[in-house]
Amino acid sequence: MRATVACALAGSALVQAATPDQWRSRSIYQVLTDRFARTDGSTSATCNTGDGNYCGGTYRGIIKKLDYIQNMGFSAIWISPITYNIPDRTPYGMAWHGYWQQDLYKLNPNFGTADDLKALSKALHDRGMYLMVDIVVNHNGWNGAASTVNYAKMQPFNDAKYYHPFCDITNYDNQGNVESCWLGDSKVELPDLNTEDSAVVSMYQSWIKGLVGNYSIDGLRIDTVKHVAKSFWKPFNQAAGVFSTGEVYHGDPAYTCPYQQSLDSVLNFPLYYPIIDFLTKSSTNPSRLISGLSAINSACKDPTLLGTFTENHDLPRIGSMTSSTALAKSAIALTILLDGIPIIYAGQEQHYAGGNDPSNREATWLSGYNTGADLYKATAVLNKLRNQAIKKDSGYLKYMAWSIWNDSHTVALRKGFDGNQIITVVTNLGESGGSWTQSVGNTGWASGTQVVEVLTCAKGTVGANGVLSVEMKGGMPSVWTSVGMAGGSGICGL
Ligand SMILES: *[C@@H]1O[C@H](CO)[C@@H](O)[C@H](O)[C@H]1NC(C)=O
Ligand SMILES: *[C@@H]1O[C@H](CO)[C@@H](O)[C@H](O)[C@H]1NC(C)=O
Repeated sequence: MRATVACALAGSALVQAATPDQWRSRSIYQVLTDRFARTDGSTSATCNTGDGNYCGGTYRGIIKKLDYIQNMGFSAIWISPITYNIPDRTPYGMAWHGYWQQDLYKLNPNFGTADDLKALSKALHDRGMYLMVDIVVNHNGWNGAASTVNYAKMQPFNDAKYYHPFCDITNYDNQGNVESCWLGDSKVELPDLNTEDSAVVSMYQSWIKGLVGNYSIDGLRIDTVKHVAKSFWKPFNQAAGVFSTGEVYHGDPAYTCPYQQSLDSVLNFPLYYPIIDFLTKSSTNPSRLISGLSAINSACKDPTLLGTFTENHDLPRIGSMTSSTALAKSAIALTILLDGIPIIYAGQEQHYAGGNDPSNREATWLSGYNTGADLYKATAVLNKLRNQAIKKDSGYLKYMAWSIWNDSHTVALRKGFDGNQIITVVTNLGESGGSWTQSVGNTGWASGTQVVEVLTCAKGTVGANGVLSVEMKGGMPSVWTSVGMAGGSGICGL
């Protein structure tokens, strides 16, 4: 089974410099290279997240597991940083995650060779999939205190003159302090590049141009974007020549969205918090989620390009906040069926439950890559549904999701029009919420339209005035489309 995403790309030779428009319809699977798959294909190799060791994941390992990813309907992967990092053990463990780089022109040898990385890129392109690479430009990494940094170990920024003078970030409300002081601490410092310096700016631009070209990278995920002045980003994004989404770790659209004036995209932190609040606090009604959607729509330049997620390697997994499968499935449904480019973090489909970093960085192989897992199957059908909607109607992605009905625990969201809409109903009552039938209006469907719930394959007929009768059961999300729209997709045998 291959992804059904409408794909304008005929082969690897054409997959270059993927644009925002080409990324809009993608669905991304996020991988920490060290933790996803090993070259030997092991499903038992030890990986204790608390140990801070390399666990052995590689590019060759990822290549062997692309069926696992693509069969869930994903059309791109995001891999953790590839550059050479602090090589020795720090008080916080090894730099297996890749965020403590030292030499931008060398690869981290733990994940494979340059040829291995090129082979991954090619294997993805042969499947019509994209490669997104995580990069860091705000800082490098140093095993020790600021006063001990040996700049000669860094490349190409091998002199103190390329860096901001040392100071700790002490005030996150002071943007100047956030941009010019250092992240890290005296155990592992993160020497902060002077990204306002014209030499640094041009060295970064020629580096990213080379990196993207050498490895045929289709897109970038950029770390710690709010720690670099906005003026740096637009020319950098242009030099990269590929779609770039930035980590602006902040939930307020008024803070986060303006970065989209400089970068193609930002990660959708403004939607992350309302989704998690709604799903994990049963006392929360959906109003913040509903108002969050419209706040993002007004503040962000193009919400359809935001990277929408409900888990990542920096945040506690949903399974650590609630043991409910219904809520975990609802999170996946909202991630894939709201606005923006969906990103599912490896392990989310296996209902992993790690809490804060490092517990949330479990080895995916320890799940045995179970393709029979409930959430794996749900992810596959929901991606398939989104891919089908995109194929049927190029306007689907730009039709912004809105709430067509809500009460204090449940919300029905609609995205799409002209018969190709998808209606997603989620509740935060969880398994103990019981069963009931909910009438939902404003579906946009004509009375008599044949519809199907894609997670259970229950069929229905739209009633008078476009009202849909939704059976809510055991807290599970209920996701509806018309039988006509699903036709030819294979969803529920249609
Ligand atoms: C890209 O490849 C060229 C040619 O081998 C090399 O000179 C350059 O340093 C490489 N750039 C990066 C960022 O790997
Ligand atoms: C939620 O439902 C209530 C009651 O039906 C309604 O008054 C309110 O406007 C709804 N909120 C939104 C944002 O749709």
